[in-house]
Parts: sequence; structure tokens; C-alpha cells
Amino acid sequence: MCGIVGAIARRNVSKILIEGLSRLEYRGYDSSGIAINNGNGVFAHRAVGKVQALKDKFSIEPLDGKLGIAHTRWATHGKPTEANAHPHFSGDHLALVHNGIIENHEPLRRDLKAKGYQFKSETDTEVIVHLIDDALKTEPDLLRAVQKTLAKLEGAFAIAVVSSSDEERFIAARKGSPLVVGVGIEENFVASDQLALLHVTDQFIFLEEGDVVEVARDAVTIYDQSGAVQDRPISVFNHNVDATDKGEFRHYMMKEIYEQPKVIAACLEGRISESKVLTSCFGADSGFLKEVENVHIVACGTSYHAGLVAKYWLEDLAGVPCSVEVASEYRYRKVAVPKNTLFLTLSQSGETADTLAALRMAKTLAYLTTLAICNVPSSTLVRESALTLLTNAGAEIGVASTKAFTTQLTALLITSVAIAVENGLSAEKEKALVQAMRSLPSYVNAALQEDAHIKKIADRFANKHHALFLGRGAMFPIALEGSLKLKEISYIHAEAYPAGELKHGPLALVDENMPIITMVPHNDMLDKLKSNLQEVAARGGELYVFADKDTELNNEKNITFTEVPKVERILEPIVHTIPLQLLSYHVAVVKGTDVDQPRNLAKSVTVE
Ligand code: G6P
Repeated sequence: MCGIVGAIARRNVSKILIEGLSRLEYRGYDSSGIAINNGNGVFAHRAVGKVQALKDKFSIEPLDGKLGIAHTRWATHGKPTEANAHPHFSGDHLALVHNGIIENHEPLRRDLKAKGYQFKSETDTEVIVHLIDDALKTEPDLLRAVQKTLAKLEGAFAIAVVSSSDEERFIAARKGSPLVVGVGIEENFVASDQLALLHVTDQFIFLEEGDVVEVARDAVTIYDQSGAVQDRPISVFNHNVDATDKGEFRHYMMKEIYEQPKVIAACLEGRISESKVLTSCFGADSGFLKEVENVHIVACGTSYHAGLVAKYWLEDLAGVPCSVEVASEYRYRKVAVPKNTLFLTLSQSGETADTLAALRMAKTLAYLTTLAICNVPSSTLVRESALTLLTNAGAEIGVASTKAFTTQLTALLITSVAIAVENGLSAEKEKALVQAMRSLPSYVNAALQEDAHIKKIADRFANKHHALFLGRGAMFPIALEGSLKLKEISYIHAEAYPAGELKHGPLALVDENMPIITMVPHNDMLDKLKSNLQEVAARGGELYVFADKDTELNNEKNITFTEVPKVERILEPIVHTIPLQLLSYHVAVVKGTDVDQPRNLAKSVTVE
């Protein structure tokens, strides 16, 4: 995913920009570049591959100046080449970096070509810089030319622009992609992420959607979408939550649970607009979406559970048959591949031996193509798959996967909707789904508010030896994931069942020593699930119900109620995951087990 850094200072900014890019590397990228206004004009270096390649260019040919913009690019429109790397120029006087996707770039490009503009790259970005140049012909003020241009753009973007005729400021803007302002003393900055600027400041202004910002050495002026000047507050970065340590948290697992609103937002970033899934997130070749008639999902552990949820989404939204299988089984059997089947792997690490072996086998079979949903951009799985959708969860250190799982679900939801659109999903339905997705980070945040309550009930699990998790529909895989979390870190034996299977066996286990954990969203399965709860209560089972208020469930004898936010049905599996993560975490803490490194388990299983 692309990253932006911009700086204006009384000192040379090239080192500040390079360090900023290094700090954005975790986002995943394939090329990088920097443009500097050194007083004699705007000059740039670009390089394919790691930021180190760009550093090498700077050491051969230094480029110093007190104003500059920088970028790490993750290719969408056009291959990762030097020509496609940002900054993009109009003439030699105007340079721009961009994060996001301009949906209407094709008609804009046609108009600009008709006006005589020549394009040097295949990117959607290049239209923006030429549009600004065109606007400057009638509106010589850079700020106003940028504002005029932004009104013509559809899609998601954050941008930063420098001009050779403006040594005292640069202009930046955001709509749909993140951008923060870093405030220094006689120097100011912008970046896609606070982490990119922590070496120069800890004071930040969070821009709002549609904001345009004029960044000078001594002043930062923010204009909202209507052009009115706005005074946005400065926040001081809490160094306790630096990505590289546990910060205020006792364990990485808890830190990662709390990061979920942020990383889910990062996973959605640049992949949805106000009303659409932006299919270019699958790379330049998203044409495969039209052809998908079947999906085979293969993964291990928690990633496999994410795949099980996607089956519900794909068959419900897209009407596309989907099968989900653990990689260690898939790789050792003869697989029948229906025509036009997408082979989809899920993996946090991208290094899991069975998943890699499954991919290699799949590549010898007649699949339509291979898509990896993965958290590690440089992993083998990503390198060996034809297509990739990165989850952007950042480094996950706790062995029990939490944020990797919910971002996998987010990426799977994007994929399911994209396939559904090609299978006749109406624009209206797509818009409703996309708008629901936009609320996801705040829903997850609301679910985290039950932490203190869950901590209290965790005490009651300390002496239990078994637990049963029940769910129906897409909540069944969440029951599986909840039971896996509990067993992984608290060593309590836990099983998950579809609630309708209760009478076919597990009911025999139910007595007053058996906690039964159930996820009960208010949907069309509610009444059936309530009957299952009665069956358990009648046998003295101790029920822990995670439900939204509309279910009218409450604390009763043998029933402990935990509120989960009411959300759109499609989001229920993601939001209901949060309390189960918190429950397993607190139970493990009460039991005193090694939360982050549970016995016998590894984070990345690189052997069979
Ligand atoms: C190990 C980890 C799990 C993970 C599984 C699959 O078992 O402990 O948390 O779900 O591997 O890993 P992957 O990296 O492929 O998602």
C-alpha cells in the first residue's frame, strides 16, 4: 500500500524523507521516489524495489533541499517500474505523490491528451498532476489550482504537491486515504502514518475527509471541502503504543487486539470508495473477477477459519460455490477442479509450509488463477501467487492470531463483494455493503468497550477443563475460532459446534461444569438459537451469551449476558470475534499461562 511523506524545513529534508519512507516499509510497496525543490527547480530520484535502492541513488547523486515530497508505491495501475514510481511530474515544474485510486482517470486522461498533455506512466496518478498544471493556467495560485482539481476526482486519494515556483509551501489533501500533518518548530510535515514522522515530531493534526492543507515552515493552514479555513486540534503521539514494543499493554496479544480498529481501517484503505469496491486493489489484472465461477479456499489454523466465513459471504452475495479446506488435507488428495475456479490462499505469515505446498500443487492444476490474502508483503506465498491482496495488519507478534484474522475477514469481504458485483449484485446493494464496511473500525472499537466486563467473567473459567462454543450460520466459524483461541492460550479443552448439531452428541456433555459460549446476533437464526439455549439451560449448563440488545436476551439464572454492538448482518462475524479474543486473553491471564508464546506452538509453521 502506498505511503506519503512531505517536509518543509530550514534544514535539508532529504534524510528526513528517506527515514520516513523506511518507517513506512511495513505497509508493503514495490518502488519509491523523492522530489526535492532545491531552489533551482524540482528534481527527483526514483527506484524500483526496496528503499535501500533509493538511498543508493542519493549516495551516488545527492539531492538536497529544504522542501520535498516522498512516496512508497504499491502498484495498482501499471507495473512496478521506475516510470510508474512517484513522484509524477507535469513538465519539470510540478511534482506530485498520491496514495489511493482515481476511479475516473480514463476520461480525465482522454481530455488531457486532447489538450496536448503527454503521459509518461501507466498510472492513474499522472492525471492529477497534469490537471493541476492545467488549472494553473487560469488560476495561478497553487492552493486554488489543487482545490479546483480535487473537485474533478472520483475515488480515494491522499496527495502532496510541490512546485518549482513555490519555495515557501507545499500543498497536501486527503479524501478516502489517510494523511496526518506533523507539526514541528519552524518545520512541518505530512505523512500517511504517524510512525513515518516520529523521528522529527510527536505532534500531529489528523486531517478530515476532503481537507486541503497548505504546509509552510511556520504555519499549517487547513481548508475543509467547502474551502473554509478550519482549526483542527493538535494531538501528541502516545509513545506507549509504538509498533515495535508492547507499549502500555502487558502482552503483544492484547496490544494487537486493541490495534484492530486501526488495522481494519488500513485494510480498507484505498480499496473502497464511497459506494464501490475498487477492483484495482487486486492489481492491474482484476479481469479475473468476471470469470470466477467457483472458489477453492485453502489455509491453516486461524486463517482456515477466516476462509470458512468467506464461504457464507461468497455463496450469499455472489451465488458462487465455494469450498474451504485445510492445506494439510488438500495437498495430499486428488482434487477435482471445476471450470473457472479461483484458488485462494489465506495466511498471516505467507510462509506456512502446508499452504505453500497446496499453492504449488494448485499451480499444476487447471485453476483460473491464484490469489493470496496475506499479511507479509515479502513472503513466499505472495511471491508465488499470481495475485495478492495484503491485509495490512502490521507485524503480528502474539502466536494467537487476532488482528491478522479480522483483517483477513475484511479482505475476504472486499473480495466477496468484488466477485458479487460481477455476478449481478446491484449498485445499490454494493453501496450499502461498502458503507457498512466503512463503519467497521468504529464497530470494532465499540466491541472493545466490553473489555472490563469480560475480564470479570473470565475468572469463572479458571477452574474449568472444558468449554463448548456454539454458533449458527457464519457465526459457526467464529465459534471455531473462539474455541481455538481459548485452547491455544489457556490450555482449556474447547470444542465448537453448529448450534443445530447440539442434539446429535455434544448435549451429552452438558452439565453444571460445562461453560457454553454462544454468539447470538439479532438475525433470522435468532429464534432457532434461542431454542438451542433452552436445551442447554434445561440441563443445568452455564451459558455465556454474546448478543446485541435487540435480541432481548439478558442476565438470567445460568445466563451471563455480554453486549455486542448491533451491526449489519454481513459484519457480524468480524464484530463478534472481538469479545471471544478478549475472553480467551483474560482467561489465560487468570490461569497464568504464557499468553504470547503458548507452549508447543509457533507463530509461523514453516515445516510440515
Ligand atoms: C500457526 C499459528 C496460527 C496460524 C497458523 C496459520 O499455527 O500459530 O496462529 O493461524 O499457523 O498461519 P498462517 O501464517 O498461514 O496464517
